[in-house]
Amino acid sequence: MLIFEKIKDLQQSLSLAYSNKRIGFVPTMGALHQGHLSLINQAKKNNDIVVVSIFVNPTQFDNTEDLKKYPRTLEADFKLLKTINCDVVFTPIANDIYNQKIQSESFNFDGLEHQMEGKFRNGHFDGVGTIVKRLFEIVKPTNAYFGEKDFQQLQIIRKLVEKHEIPVHIEGCEIYREIDGLAMSSRNARLTEKNRDAAPFIYKTLKKAKKKFAKKNTYKVYKWVEKKFKEHPLLKLEYFEIADEETLQTISEKSIEKNYRAFIAVFAGKIRLIDNIRL
Ligand code: PAF
Repeated sequence: MLIFEKIKDLQQSLSLAYSNKRIGFVPTMGALHQGHLSLINQAKKNNDIVVVSIFVNPTQFDNTEDLKKYPRTLEADFKLLKTINCDVVFTPIANDIYNQKIQSESFNFDGLEHQMEGKFRNGHFDGVGTIVKRLFEIVKPTNAYFGEKDFQQLQIIRKLVEKHEIPVHIEGCEIYREIDGLAMSSRNARLTEKNRDAAPFIYKTLKKAKKKFAKKNTYKVYKWVEKKFKEHPLLKLEYFEIADEETLQTISEKSIEKNYRAFIAVFAGKIRLIDNIRL
């Protein structure tokens, strides 16, 4: 497994050994878990080599405490990546990747950025767009893999690629869950024991909401979910929204031609967890 910190070393190696090869790319912020490994395994199936980047991107955090406390486990990440024969790991430093100017570009994602996470995390998607565009310029992947846990991010990256005509295929991969249903996330490691035990309630509620959505109007589903979280002693609901998968606009009326998803953000103590389910 080759590890590069410098952009030019990575590019040199890719152009020497892997020109005309299919490069599968999995961008990450490290603290790798089975969810990341499932993306990497997916990438291995359809590409000649797989590049994984590990970079905790400062511009996508609107909360300095969250950035400071974001888990950084580089040595454990390398070990895990070796176990699945990852080909190349890219671990850039912020000043290099941002050319000494750690600042986001400003993007127009046709309104996708103003929904859900966009309402609560100021500048988050500008930060994500900036880093993903930069990483695509550096790695020049054939295919890039993103998890559906961050479904809004996935749709925004599709929009980024379309609007900026970036020649990469974006593959969305199913949410990888713990046995008890909790969506895998690097943030789960920061949950207290009590909150970790409580957290599967999020997916259980989503599954029940899905059943209710089939029979009831959306208003009733919203009210039911809100009530469930009001009654919960540990978990605090930030939002629950039922939205069109394409536009991410919330809906009040169902249409049979459209695909919908329910999206949720919940605080377990200070840790913010998100999840979603196809309806
Ligand atoms: O999903 C993530 O881990 C990050 O948002 C990403 C795509 C690696 C960009 O920093």
